[in-house]
Amino acid sequence: MEINLSNRILFFCFLLIATMARRGVGLRFDNKSGEFKIVQVADMHYANGQSTGCLNVPLDQQATCSDLNTTDFLYRIIRAENPDLVVFTGDNIYGNDTTDPVKSMNMAFDPVVALKLPWAAVLGNHDQESYLSREDVMRHITTMPYTLSRLNPDGSEIDGYGNYNIEISGPEGSPLVNKSVLNLYFLDSGDYSTVESIHGYGWIKLSQQVWFQKTSSQLQKVYKSAPHEQKESAPGLVYFHIPLPEYASFNISNFIGVKQEGISSASINSGFFTTMVEAGDVKAVFTGHDHLNDFCTTLTGIQLCYAGGFGYHAYGKAGWPRRTSVVSAFLEKTADGQWGGVKSIKTWKRLDDQYLSTIDSQVLWSKGPTGSEIHHHQHQHRIEGMQGYIKEELSL
Ligand SMILES: *[C@@H]1O[C@H](CO)[C@@H](O)[C@H](O)[C@H]1NC(C)=O
Ligand SMILES: *[C@@H]1O[C@H](CO)[C@@H](O)[C@H](O)[C@H]1NC(C)=O
Ligand SMILES: *[C@@H]1O[C@H](CO)[C@@H](O)[C@H](O)[C@H]1NC(C)=O
Ligand SMILES: *[C@@H]1O[C@H](CO)[C@@H](O)[C@H](O)[C@H]1NC(C)=O
Ligand SMILES: *[C@@H]1O[C@H](CO)[C@@H](O)[C@H](O)[C@H]1NC(C)=O
Repeated sequence: MEINLSNRILFFCFLLIATMARRGVGLRFDNKSGEFKIVQVADMHYANGQSTGCLNVPLDQQATCSDLNTTDFLYRIIRAENPDLVVFTGDNIYGNDTTDPVKSMNMAFDPVVALKLPWAAVLGNHDQESYLSREDVMRHITTMPYTLSRLNPDGSEIDGYGNYNIEISGPEGSPLVNKSVLNLYFLDSGDYSTVESIHGYGWIKLSQQVWFQKTSSQLQKVYKSAPHEQKESAPGLVYFHIPLPEYASFNISNFIGVKQEGISSASINSGFFTTMVEAGDVKAVFTGHDHLNDFCTTLTGIQLCYAGGFGYHAYGKAGWPRRTSVVSAFLEKTADGQWGGVKSIKTWKRLDDQYLSTIDSQVLWSKGPTGSEIHHHQHQHRIEGMQGYIKEELSL
């Protein structure tokens, strides 16, 4: 077969662009601010748009509330925070109530597509409850505009759909321009147990943990190798839907936010927390699933965080605003005035009230002056002022 040179060059460029898009290369820290910001959207539970009503909103709001309120909130929060990436942590659609799951997904993700923002999604336990399988739902997501979501890693057998990673590189013009200085991992935490003797929700399987372990180890190796070899690993953030059993190991001194319902983990522990602790680079885990919990707690150097429920067709609590979690990572300046690796990672929540109120600001992780890591345990607990709501299970 005869292929002329310009065709070959075109084809090569196409491959390069395709590979870059697939790997999320191109996401990088801002070279003015040294910041990278992620908005997490948990549990939109989107169905059919305007015809789909809201759950648990004040009675006088019932008649005027629909999925479009979820869309409005997404537009408002993006305009207020101007994030570099939006992450959807599952139950993006509520399959059982959608007449057309593809339409529901297109409506649910429409704001990030319309605003041309990079975005990534994983599945929850409700996304596949219409006639599309988990695989088909995830496949559709990976074909949508501006998404960095992928189905699964190439060439490895793995459980679930939507296990992938995204690398965030150093700023343009900095020594770390070609290195991933912040690593994001996305996993499918499943829906329900398929093992007869185990009831309840799904879990992160061994095959997924092996993929995570290999990916983390490879990223750390590259980061610590020439050129511009780094002493410590780049921090990692992990996103999935169903909380780990370890979310229950909080106490009053390492807890920010509220817990207003149980922690609906799988009924067994598949060991992913231990796998992350061993890997050594993960600083925080972000899930959804329990809409009335929005706390972060820390265990063995890893922050375990809920985003709180976002969607209006999802169960919630009337008078307790729908909310979202924002995470921002900041780079350090090296001795020669250039941008270096990540110095600190902060988080806060934004409420869908009149002011898009910011609450629960905290440092999730920061690098110590000697390169050692300092974990911040802010002794700050919260009583919600809104509508006189007082958190129930942990009182001051
Ligand atoms: C839903 O949106 C409508 C139209 O903007 C607004 O009037 C209503 O207050 C919103 N409802 C809630 C619960 O936010
Ligand atoms: C699913 O929808 C059907 C019909 O609308 C309803 O009867 C059923 O209870 C729903 N199931 C769940 C799990 O919500
Ligand atoms: C930011 O990027 C621009 C364009 O690549 C470059 O000219 C500039 O030197 C960079 N600034 C810093 C502080 O690295
Ligand atoms: C980054 O990679 C490009 C392309 O390979 C190369 O030209 C450049 O020198 C590299 N920059 C740094 C700081 O390593
Ligand atoms: C609370 O948890 C932290 C971190 O896990 C631990 O160091 C501390 O001893 C615990 N405090 C109580 C009162 O259990």
